[in-house]
Amino acid sequence: MKPEFPDAAKRFCEQVGIRYPVIGGPMYPCSNPELTAAVSAAGGIGILQPISLTYVHGHDYREGIRLMRRLTDKPIGMNALIEKSSEKYRQRMSLWIDIALEEGVRFFVTSLGKPDWVVERVHAAGGLVYHDVTELKWARIGLDNGADGLICVNNRAGGHAGERTMRTLYEELHGLGAPLVCAGGIGEAAGLWEALDYGYAACQLGTRFIASHECRASEAYKQAVINANEADIVLSERITGIPVSVINTDFIKRSGTRIGRFARWMLSGNTTKHWMRMYYGLKSIWQLKRSSLDETGEKDYWQAGKSVSGIDSIETCETIMQRLLTRGVKK
Ligand SMILES: Cc1cc2nc3c(=O)[nH]c(=O)nc-3n(C[C@H](O)[C@H](O)[C@H](O)COP(=O)(O)O)c2cc1C
Repeated sequence: MKPEFPDAAKRFCEQVGIRYPVIGGPMYPCSNPELTAAVSAAGGIGILQPISLTYVHGHDYREGIRLMRRLTDKPIGMNALIEKSSEKYRQRMSLWIDIALEEGVRFFVTSLGKPDWVVERVHAAGGLVYHDVTELKWARIGLDNGADGLICVNNRAGGHAGERTMRTLYEELHGLGAPLVCAGGIGEAAGLWEALDYGYAACQLGTRFIASHECRASEAYKQAVINANEADIVLSERITGIPVSVINTDFIKRSGTRIGRFARWMLSGNTTKHWMRMYYGLKSIWQLKRSSLDETGEKDYWQAGKSVSGIDSIETCETIMQRLLTRGVKK
Protein backbone atom coordinates (compact mmCIF):
# COMPACT_ATOMS: atom_id res chain seq x y z
CA MET A 1 0.00 0.00 0.00
CA LYS A 2 1.29 3.48 -0.86
CA PRO A 3 1.26 5.90 2.12
CA GLU A 4 -0.36 9.32 1.79
CA PHE A 5 2.46 11.87 1.37
CA PRO A 6 2.28 15.62 2.01
CA ASP A 7 1.80 17.73 -1.16
CA ALA A 8 5.46 18.73 -1.62
CA ALA A 9 6.47 15.06 -1.55
CA LYS A 10 3.72 14.11 -3.99
CA ARG A 11 4.93 16.78 -6.41
CA PHE A 12 8.54 15.58 -6.07
CA CYS A 13 7.56 11.98 -6.84
CA GLU A 14 5.62 13.13 -9.88
CA GLN A 15 8.44 15.38 -11.10
CA VAL A 16 11.09 12.65 -10.78
CA GLY A 17 8.83 9.78 -11.85
CA ILE A 18 9.23 7.66 -8.70
CA ARG A 19 6.92 6.06 -6.15
CA TYR A 20 8.43 7.25 -2.86
CA PRO A 21 10.21 10.53 -1.93
CA VAL A 22 13.43 8.80 -0.96
CA ILE A 23 16.84 9.35 -2.58
CA GLY A 24 19.67 6.85 -2.09
CA GLY A 25 22.44 9.47 -1.84
CA PRO A 26 25.67 9.15 -3.83
CA MET A 27 28.45 7.72 -1.69
CA TYR A 28 32.12 7.57 -2.47
CA PRO A 29 33.21 4.74 -1.94
CA CYS A 30 30.00 2.92 -0.97
CA SER A 31 27.88 3.40 -4.11
CA ASN A 32 28.13 0.19 -6.10
CA PRO A 33 25.74 -0.25 -9.03
CA GLU A 34 23.75 -3.02 -7.31
CA LEU A 35 23.02 -0.68 -4.39
CA THR A 36 22.04 2.27 -6.58
CA ALA A 37 19.74 0.07 -8.68
CA ALA A 38 18.21 -1.56 -5.57
CA VAL A 39 17.13 1.80 -4.10
CA SER A 40 15.48 2.68 -7.41
CA ALA A 41 13.85 -0.75 -7.71
CA ALA A 42 12.47 -0.28 -4.18
CA GLY A 43 10.58 2.83 -5.32
CA GLY A 44 13.03 5.66 -4.48
CA ILE A 45 15.85 6.89 -6.71
CA GLY A 46 19.46 5.73 -6.34
CA ILE A 47 22.17 8.21 -7.34
CA LEU A 48 25.28 6.79 -8.96
CA GLN A 49 28.66 8.14 -7.89
CA PRO A 50 30.94 7.98 -10.95
CA ILE A 51 34.30 7.64 -9.19
CA SER A 52 32.91 4.96 -6.89
CA LEU A 53 31.41 3.13 -9.88
CA THR A 54 34.64 3.11 -11.88
CA TYR A 55 37.59 3.31 -9.48
CA VAL A 56 36.25 1.45 -6.43
CA HIS A 57 33.93 -1.08 -8.04
CA GLY A 58 35.87 -1.50 -11.26
CA HIS A 59 33.18 -0.90 -13.89
CA ASP A 60 33.59 0.80 -17.20
CA TYR A 61 31.40 3.90 -16.68
CA ARG A 62 28.88 3.28 -19.50
CA GLU A 63 28.74 -0.46 -18.84
CA GLY A 64 28.14 0.26 -15.13
CA ILE A 65 25.10 2.35 -16.02
CA ARG A 66 23.89 -0.36 -18.38
CA LEU A 67 24.24 -2.90 -15.57
CA MET A 68 21.98 -0.73 -13.40
CA ARG A 69 19.55 -0.45 -16.30
CA ARG A 70 19.41 -4.24 -16.52
CA LEU A 71 18.78 -4.48 -12.76
CA THR A 72 15.91 -1.99 -12.80
CA ASP A 73 13.90 -0.04 -15.34
CA LYS A 74 13.12 2.64 -12.72
CA PRO A 75 14.83 6.08 -12.82
CA ILE A 76 18.37 6.37 -11.51
CA GLY A 77 20.36 9.56 -10.94
CA MET A 78 23.94 10.74 -11.25
CA ASN A 79 26.17 12.77 -8.91
CA ALA A 80 28.36 15.36 -10.59
CA LEU A 81 31.06 16.86 -8.38
CA ILE A 82 31.67 20.07 -10.30
CA GLU A 83 34.23 21.76 -8.09
CA LYS A 84 36.63 23.89 -10.11
CA SER A 85 39.73 21.73 -10.17
CA SER A 86 41.90 20.61 -13.07
CA GLU A 87 40.76 20.94 -16.68
CA LYS A 88 41.29 17.22 -17.10
CA TYR A 89 38.87 16.44 -14.23
CA ARG A 90 36.28 18.82 -15.66
CA GLN A 91 36.53 17.19 -19.08
CA ARG A 92 36.06 13.76 -17.55
CA MET A 93 33.04 14.87 -15.52
CA SER A 94 31.60 16.52 -18.60
CA LEU A 95 31.96 13.27 -20.56
CA TRP A 96 30.40 11.29 -17.70
CA ILE A 97 27.39 13.63 -17.72
CA ASP A 98 26.97 13.22 -21.48
CA ILE A 99 27.20 9.43 -21.24
CA ALA A 100 24.67 9.39 -18.39
CA LEU A 101 22.28 11.44 -20.54
CA GLU A 102 22.81 9.12 -23.51
CA GLU A 103 22.01 6.16 -21.25
CA GLY A 104 18.73 7.71 -20.14
CA VAL A 105 19.66 9.28 -16.78
CA ARG A 106 17.49 12.35 -16.18
CA PHE A 107 18.10 13.27 -12.54
CA PHE A 108 21.38 14.90 -11.51
CA VAL A 109 22.77 15.94 -8.15
CA THR A 110 25.51 18.55 -8.44
CA SER A 111 27.94 19.25 -5.61
CA LEU A 112 30.18 22.31 -5.20
CA GLY A 113 30.67 24.95 -7.87
CA LYS A 114 28.18 26.57 -10.26
CA PRO A 115 25.84 24.08 -11.92
CA ASP A 116 24.95 26.27 -14.96
CA TRP A 117 26.80 24.18 -17.56
CA VAL A 118 25.29 20.94 -16.21
CA VAL A 119 21.80 22.50 -16.09
CA GLU A 120 22.06 23.60 -19.72
CA ARG A 121 22.68 20.08 -20.99
CA VAL A 122 20.33 18.32 -18.61
CA HIS A 123 17.44 20.69 -19.30
CA ALA A 124 17.98 20.30 -23.04
CA ALA A 125 17.38 16.57 -22.51
CA GLY A 126 14.30 17.21 -20.33
CA GLY A 127 16.02 16.29 -17.05
CA LEU A 128 16.36 17.84 -13.59
CA VAL A 129 19.31 19.14 -11.58
CA TYR A 130 19.27 19.32 -7.78
CA HIS A 131 22.18 21.13 -6.15
CA ASP A 132 23.83 20.21 -2.79
CA VAL A 133 23.80 23.10 -0.31
CA THR A 134 24.53 23.71 3.37
CA GLU A 135 23.41 27.34 3.61
CA LEU A 136 21.67 30.24 1.86
CA LYS A 137 24.78 31.51 0.04
CA TRP A 138 25.24 28.22 -1.85
CA ALA A 139 21.50 27.83 -2.39
CA ARG A 140 21.36 31.19 -4.17
CA ILE A 141 24.30 30.22 -6.39
CA GLY A 142 22.60 26.92 -7.24
CA LEU A 143 19.24 28.48 -8.11
CA ASP A 144 20.73 31.50 -9.91
CA ASN A 145 22.55 28.96 -12.08
CA GLY A 146 19.36 27.14 -12.99
CA ALA A 147 19.06 24.29 -10.47
CA ASP A 148 15.54 22.86 -10.12
CA GLY A 149 15.81 22.01 -6.44
CA LEU A 150 18.16 21.85 -3.48
CA ILE A 151 19.64 18.96 -1.50
CA CYS A 152 19.85 20.49 1.97
CA VAL A 153 22.76 18.87 3.78
CA ASN A 154 22.37 19.30 7.54
CA ASN A 155 24.59 18.83 10.57
CA ARG A 156 23.69 15.16 11.06
CA ALA A 157 24.69 14.02 7.58
CA GLY A 158 27.27 11.43 6.65
CA GLY A 159 30.05 12.60 4.30
CA HIS A 160 30.71 16.36 4.37
CA ALA A 161 28.11 17.48 6.89
CA GLY A 162 26.61 20.96 7.05
CA GLU A 163 26.34 23.16 10.11
CA ARG A 164 22.59 23.82 10.32
CA THR A 165 19.93 21.56 11.82
CA MET A 166 17.29 20.05 9.58
CA ARG A 167 14.75 22.65 10.77
CA THR A 168 17.05 25.70 10.67
CA LEU A 169 18.11 24.89 7.14
CA TYR A 170 14.50 24.52 6.02
CA GLU A 171 13.58 27.86 7.59
CA GLU A 172 16.56 29.51 5.88
CA LEU A 173 15.78 28.14 2.43
CA HIS A 174 12.08 27.52 1.95
CA GLY A 175 11.37 31.14 1.02
CA LEU A 176 13.40 30.61 -2.18
CA GLY A 177 10.47 28.62 -3.55
CA ALA A 178 12.45 25.59 -4.78
CA PRO A 179 11.74 22.01 -3.71
CA LEU A 180 13.96 21.11 -0.74
CA VAL A 181 15.36 17.66 -0.05
CA CYS A 182 16.45 16.85 3.51
CA ALA A 183 19.88 15.16 3.62
CA GLY A 184 21.23 13.98 6.92
CA GLY A 185 20.37 12.08 10.04
CA ILE A 186 17.57 9.88 8.75
CA GLY A 187 17.87 6.19 9.56
CA GLU A 188 14.29 5.26 10.40
CA ALA A 189 10.63 6.09 9.72
CA ALA A 190 10.18 8.74 12.43
CA GLY A 191 12.97 10.90 10.95
CA LEU A 192 11.65 10.53 7.40
CA TRP A 193 8.12 11.54 8.30
CA GLU A 194 9.28 14.38 10.53
CA ALA A 195 11.15 15.91 7.58
CA LEU A 196 8.28 15.37 5.12
CA ASP A 197 5.71 16.77 7.55
CA TYR A 198 7.96 19.78 8.13
CA GLY A 199 7.73 20.58 4.43
CA TYR A 200 10.67 18.84 2.75
CA ALA A 201 9.82 17.39 -0.64
CA ALA A 202 11.98 14.28 -0.16
CA CYS A 203 14.78 12.82 1.97
CA GLN A 204 18.23 11.76 0.84
CA LEU A 205 19.73 8.91 2.87
CA GLY A 206 23.29 7.64 2.75
CA THR A 207 24.37 5.90 5.96
CA ARG A 208 21.19 3.77 6.21
CA PHE A 209 21.88 2.17 2.86
CA ILE A 210 25.44 1.19 3.80
CA ALA A 211 23.89 -1.36 6.17
CA SER A 212 22.10 -3.12 3.31
CA HIS A 213 22.69 -6.46 1.64
CA GLU A 214 23.17 -4.78 -1.73
CA CYS A 215 25.99 -2.49 -0.54
CA ARG A 216 29.44 -3.95 -1.26
CA ALA A 217 31.18 -2.30 1.72
CA SER A 218 32.97 -4.76 4.01
CA GLU A 219 31.01 -6.60 6.70
CA ALA A 220 33.30 -4.93 9.25
CA TYR A 221 32.16 -1.47 8.03
CA LYS A 222 28.47 -2.49 8.06
CA GLN A 223 28.80 -3.92 11.58
CA ALA A 224 30.49 -0.70 12.73
CA VAL A 225 27.48 1.27 11.40
CA ILE A 226 25.14 -1.01 13.33
CA ASN A 227 27.17 -0.87 16.55
CA ALA A 228 27.77 2.88 16.54
CA ASN A 229 25.71 5.46 18.39
CA GLU A 230 25.36 9.13 17.65
CA ALA A 231 28.14 9.91 20.16
CA ASP A 232 30.53 7.72 18.13
CA ILE A 233 30.32 10.03 15.09
CA VAL A 234 33.10 12.60 14.94
CA LEU A 235 34.30 15.08 12.34
CA SER A 236 37.74 14.39 10.92
CA GLU A 237 39.73 16.86 8.84
CA ARG A 238 42.39 14.30 8.10
CA ILE A 239 40.73 12.69 5.09
CA THR A 240 39.98 15.57 2.74
CA GLY A 241 41.25 18.62 4.63
CA ILE A 242 37.69 19.68 5.48
CA PRO A 243 35.54 17.99 8.17
CA VAL A 244 34.01 14.64 7.22
CA SER A 245 31.72 12.57 9.52
CA VAL A 246 33.33 9.28 10.48
CA ILE A 247 32.92 6.55 13.07
CA ASN A 248 35.34 7.10 15.93
CA THR A 249 37.22 3.81 15.54
CA ASP A 250 40.40 2.95 17.44
CA PHE A 251 42.35 4.06 14.37
CA ILE A 252 40.71 7.51 14.44
CA LYS A 253 41.28 7.75 18.18
CA ARG A 254 44.97 6.96 17.65
CA SER A 255 45.52 9.21 14.66
CA GLY A 256 43.36 12.18 15.76
CA THR A 257 40.87 14.22 13.76
CA ARG A 258 42.74 17.48 13.18
CA ILE A 259 45.17 18.34 10.42
CA GLY A 260 48.65 19.61 11.29
CA ARG A 261 49.78 23.22 11.31
CA PHE A 262 51.63 22.94 8.00
CA ALA A 263 48.57 21.54 6.20
CA ARG A 264 46.35 24.22 7.70
CA TRP A 265 48.78 26.90 6.54
CA MET A 266 48.88 25.41 3.03
CA LEU A 267 45.07 25.33 2.90
CA SER A 268 44.84 28.98 3.87
CA GLY A 269 47.02 30.29 1.01
CA ASN A 270 45.41 31.24 -2.31
CA THR A 271 47.84 29.28 -4.48
CA THR A 272 48.92 26.59 -2.05
CA LYS A 273 45.34 25.59 -1.23
CA HIS A 274 44.85 24.17 -4.76
CA TRP A 275 47.93 21.96 -4.37
CA MET A 276 46.79 20.88 -0.94
CA ARG A 277 43.26 20.09 -2.13
CA MET A 278 44.68 18.04 -4.98
CA TYR A 279 46.91 16.16 -2.56
CA TYR A 280 43.99 15.46 -0.19
CA GLY A 281 41.73 14.54 -3.10
CA LEU A 282 44.07 11.86 -4.40
CA LYS A 283 44.97 10.58 -0.93
CA SER A 284 41.36 10.36 0.22
CA ILE A 285 40.22 8.54 -2.92
CA TRP A 286 42.74 5.81 -2.24
CA GLN A 287 42.33 5.73 1.55
CA LEU A 288 38.54 5.57 1.50
CA LYS A 289 38.53 2.85 -1.13
CA ARG A 290 40.83 0.68 0.96
CA SER A 291 38.92 1.36 4.19
CA SER A 292 35.52 0.49 2.74
CA LEU A 293 36.53 -2.84 1.23
CA ASP A 294 39.15 -4.06 3.71
CA GLU A 295 37.83 -6.68 6.16
CA THR A 296 40.70 -6.39 8.63
CA GLY A 297 39.53 -3.01 9.88
CA GLU A 298 43.00 -1.87 10.82
CA LYS A 299 43.00 1.54 9.20
CA ASP A 300 39.38 2.45 9.12
CA TYR A 301 38.07 5.65 7.70
CA TRP A 302 34.43 4.64 7.88
CA GLN A 303 32.25 7.57 6.90
CA ALA A 304 28.81 7.62 8.52
CA GLY A 305 26.35 10.16 9.86
CA LYS A 306 24.43 10.47 13.10
CA SER A 307 21.57 8.34 11.78
CA VAL A 308 23.64 5.34 12.95
CA SER A 309 21.67 5.41 16.24
CA GLY A 310 18.52 4.30 14.43
CA ILE A 311 20.20 1.53 12.41
CA ASP A 312 20.47 -1.91 13.96
CA SER A 313 20.35 -4.49 11.20
CA ILE A 314 21.57 -5.20 7.70
CA GLU A 315 18.53 -5.53 5.44
CA THR A 316 17.64 -5.41 1.77
CA CYS A 317 16.88 -2.00 0.28
CA GLU A 318 13.30 -3.15 -0.27
CA THR A 319 12.86 -3.91 3.47
CA ILE A 320 14.60 -0.67 4.47
CA MET A 321 12.26 1.28 2.20
CA GLN A 322 9.12 -0.40 3.50
CA ARG A 323 10.16 0.24 7.12
CA LEU A 324 10.93 3.87 6.37
CA LEU A 325 7.49 4.37 4.91
CA THR A 326 5.61 2.98 7.89
CA ARG A 327 4.30 6.09 9.56
CA GLY A 328 4.48 6.22 13.33
CA VAL A 329 6.66 3.15 13.70
CA LYS A 330 10.13 3.75 15.13
CA LYS A 331 12.27 1.23 13.21
C1 LIG B 1 30.09 7.04 3.01
C2 LIG B 1 29.48 8.28 2.45
C3 LIG B 1 29.98 8.81 1.27
C4 LIG B 1 29.40 9.94 0.68
N1 LIG B 1 29.87 10.39 -0.52
C5 LIG B 1 29.22 11.40 -1.16
C6 LIG B 1 29.61 11.78 -2.48
O1 LIG B 1 30.52 11.21 -3.08
N2 LIG B 1 28.92 12.79 -3.08
C7 LIG B 1 27.88 13.45 -2.44
O2 LIG B 1 27.30 14.36 -3.02
N3 LIG B 1 27.49 13.08 -1.20
C8 LIG B 1 28.12 12.07 -0.55
N4 LIG B 1 27.69 11.66 0.68
C9 LIG B 1 26.47 12.27 1.26
C10 LIG B 1 25.22 11.43 0.94
O3 LIG B 1 24.92 11.43 -0.42
C11 LIG B 1 24.00 11.92 1.74
O4 LIG B 1 23.69 13.25 1.43
C12 LIG B 1 24.21 11.79 3.23
O5 LIG B 1 24.75 10.52 3.51
C13 LIG B 1 22.91 11.93 4.00
O6 LIG B 1 23.17 11.78 5.37
P1 LIG B 1 23.01 10.38 6.13
O7 LIG B 1 24.26 9.64 5.92
O8 LIG B 1 22.82 10.79 7.56
O9 LIG B 1 21.82 9.66 5.58
C14 LIG B 1 28.29 10.57 1.31
C15 LIG B 1 27.81 10.03 2.52
C16 LIG B 1 28.38 8.90 3.09
C17 LIG B 1 27.81 8.35 4.36
